[in-house]
Amino acid sequence: MEPVLQVKHIAKEFPGVKALEDISIDFYPGECHALVGENGAGKSTLIKIIASIYKPTKGEVLLEGKTCNFKTPKDAIDAGIAVIQQETSIAPHLSIAENMYLGCEPRYSNGLLNRKKMESDAQAVLDEMELKLDSHTICAGLTAAQLQMVEIAKVISKHAKVVVLDEPTSSLSDKEIDSLFEQVRKMKKANTTMIYVTHRMAELPMICERCSIFRDGLKVAEYMVKDVDEKTIVNSMVGRELGAYVKPEHTAKEELLRVEHLTQEGKFRDVSFHANAGEIVAFSGLVGAGRTEVMEAVFGATRATSGKVFLEGKEVHFKHPSEAIAHKMGLATEDRRRTGLLLTKSIQENVGLPNLPFHAKKFLMKLVNVKWEKDTSEEYRKKLQIKAPNIQVLCGNLSGGNQQKVILSKWLAAGVKVLILDEPTKGIDVNARAEFYALMNKFVEDGGSIVMVSSDMPEIIKVADRVYVMSEGIIKGELSHEEISEINIISLASPVSDDEKKEA
Ligand SMILES: Nc1ncnc2c1ncn2[C@@H]1O[C@H](COP(=O)(O)OP(=O)(O)OP(=O)(O)O)[C@@H](O)[C@H]1O
Ligand SMILES: [Mg+2]
Repeated sequence: MEPVLQVKHIAKEFPGVKALEDISIDFYPGECHALVGENGAGKSTLIKIIASIYKPTKGEVLLEGKTCNFKTPKDAIDAGIAVIQQETSIAPHLSIAENMYLGCEPRYSNGLLNRKKMESDAQAVLDEMELKLDSHTICAGLTAAQLQMVEIAKVISKHAKVVVLDEPTSSLSDKEIDSLFEQVRKMKKANTTMIYVTHRMAELPMICERCSIFRDGLKVAEYMVKDVDEKTIVNSMVGRELGAYVKPEHTAKEELLRVEHLTQEGKFRDVSFHANAGEIVAFSGLVGAGRTEVMEAVFGATRATSGKVFLEGKEVHFKHPSEAIAHKMGLATEDRRRTGLLLTKSIQENVGLPNLPFHAKKFLMKLVNVKWEKDTSEEYRKKLQIKAPNIQVLCGNLSGGNQQKVILSKWLAAGVKVLILDEPTKGIDVNARAEFYALMNKFVEDGGSIVMVSSDMPEIIKVADRVYVMSEGIIKGELSHEEISEINIISLASPVSDDEKKEA
């Protein structure tokens, strides 16, 4: 079998960072080749070189044996290389059909846009994928999972030779992952060459034939997936034996947060829950169950229609997140690029941000306590192993997982008591995950309370002390520590019956 795509001796340097060194890989038709490695190992950089978004410092990319001399990303697309980036590239104000055919719209012979054909072609792909989406829908209102599906529909519509997926499942729940994998299998059957980046090792045997392991910009190993176990992969990724995570016993203390009958028209209804000091409470459910919306309302980012929120027994009415922060509550949002970080600011400035109101007051003329910012961000850079040459690096230049680590640092450093984490380990590698769980445990052991929204079932089972399961905007049930299991969560997370809807 001849490889369709080859990368040969690729190196890439950014100022102060060797992102890739001497990478050579052959990619075969009808196969899915996984790229795995810790945050900042260089996976996305290689993909951007394949997509002609970055020029390599050294080396070359070959498509069907010929050196690619692409000048722009569009040349790569035209040659049959379709890439779904780690961060979604959907234009929110355009419709699904417009997004799918952006830059390659079907046209009449006189050059005018053939909107009818564009919309019906788009709809055909959506229907074929069995997505319940209308090609006319404007993308702004879609959920993260739906956006991801639109990206995939866009790729399928191009009938590309090579399809690259950079962490497509990090914001999807199991059900959506199943339908994504179905699409991947179909593309493989059609002899497409697939490249797949993930931090979820369990996915490899499900869809990948080969995998290349990256560590610090180097390719350290290549395996046939069927010949290798997860432990070997993780160990060669990290470069050492990784111990198993053992969940510590937590004892719940006084109640810190109580939410009663919170309702937001059209989003969620009659949501009641509490979180105590010393415990990690998780919200499970399918993507779109309304968990993010509940947390945003609790944090004052949106307004609930009715219901009450209590902090340490006192009723609060947050009209703005700054009020929640002033009451020592933090929210690490799901969408790191939009609401989590200032991408054009440094790690130091981002970590300092939620602390400004507290630290500035102590100084005349409200000066920012730069020394505190420096020391703290440096401390967390080390603790969470943020891969950056120093804390002055702009967050926009960090790898996806490292951006996530900065968000976590910012809240852990903010001295909050109640910390809401929305999909906190999205895009975080296995090793850093373990470090992060340890920090979460320390946070609650020191008297804090964590409310964690997660679509990652193994994660919930591993770290939660108590679980609420949401479905279609209502809390379907609560599971005590002893009751937490995959079966119990799945049976509660399934769609709400009509009787239950009436009751609510
Ligand atoms: N535009 C850029 N400018 C400067 N440094 C960059 C740039 N893009 C990437 N880097 C650096 O290159 C290294 C590799 O980053 P890359 O995004 O390829 O990692 P990754 O393996 O995809 O990680 P993750 O799993 O977190 O997504 C990182 O140290 C990152 O900070
Ligand atoms: Mg990446």
